[in-house]
Amino acid sequence: MRKICIINQKGGVAKTTTTINLGAGLARKGKKVLILDIDPQGSIATCLGTESYKDMYDLLVENADWQECIMQMGANLDIIKSKESLTKAETILTAEPSRETYLRRKLKTVKGYDYLLIDCPPSLGLLNQNAILYADEAIIPTSTDVLGYEGLKKIVKAIVKIREVFDHEIKITKIVPTLFDMRNKICKEILEEIKTEFTGMVSEPIRISSKFKEAPRAQKSIFGYAPKSRAATDYMTLVEDVISDEEKVEALKEREQKAFRVEKIAPGIHE
Ligand SMILES: Nc1ncnc2c1ncn2[C@@H]1O[C@H](COP(=O)(O)OP(=O)(O)OP(=O)(O)O)[C@@H](O)[C@H]1O
Ligand SMILES: [Mg+2]
Repeated sequence: MRKICIINQKGGVAKTTTTINLGAGLARKGKKVLILDIDPQGSIATCLGTESYKDMYDLLVENADWQECIMQMGANLDIIKSKESLTKAETILTAEPSRETYLRRKLKTVKGYDYLLIDCPPSLGLLNQNAILYADEAIIPTSTDVLGYEGLKKIVKAIVKIREVFDHEIKITKIVPTLFDMRNKICKEILEEIKTEFTGMVSEPIRISSKFKEAPRAQKSIFGYAPKSRAATDYMTLVEDVISDEEKVEALKEREQKAFRVEKIAPGIHE
């Protein structure tokens, strides 16, 4: 199971849009997907129209079992939604011991999925630290403008810091340029700068399209709302790109596990 947080402390850079459409696209490709919303804004539920008895607050604070909080959206797509009450959860968690790894402990028994995607809030607070320390991978959507680029550098630094402080192996597997306007010179310039600084990590850009603003009103993913649009084409390209990383990620994991075993047996010696 690949556990991926979709993260950026900058607001409005298409984290939720990317989580929904990456999740829906992976599900259409036959992958079993669970989306976790840890943003008190609760945008996943707004965009997809989910109703459930229990949600992320119940999971984190009321000791609900993860299965009780699941909402089925399709054959391959499940969701655990959140709402405003999650703000309260963050305050309550602050008083807990090992509060940064709370999500990891609560979700220890989750199984049966190929992909677990976490839609993160625009902050660097406790909920996002929990997401980073639960996930194996991070996907960072970033807007292709000056402020977006600055935000991207900050979130990369923050992930590297958390990785070091907590000695947690998380990889940034993709940077996804979003809100890309081909007619805009600055968008093209910033995209080139991002590609140069983060060589090999940057996916094809997601172009700007009004379909993304319309789809939530219909409570559909872009594939359900406008399957023939360029917006759907762009996200399907990302879906295929993420799937094609599967082998690479597995190989890396195996190498790391081997190195870890050797390190345990003979400290100081790596393969
Ligand atoms: N490629 C795009 N073209 C046009 N509009 C887009 C595109 N991607 C996202 N949007 C729109 O931009 C707005 C912000 O997107 P979204 O909610 O996904 O961002 P976010 O990073 O999750 O925001 P927040 O930080 O508040 O959680 C939404 O109205 C969404 O429909
Ligand atoms: Mg969001």
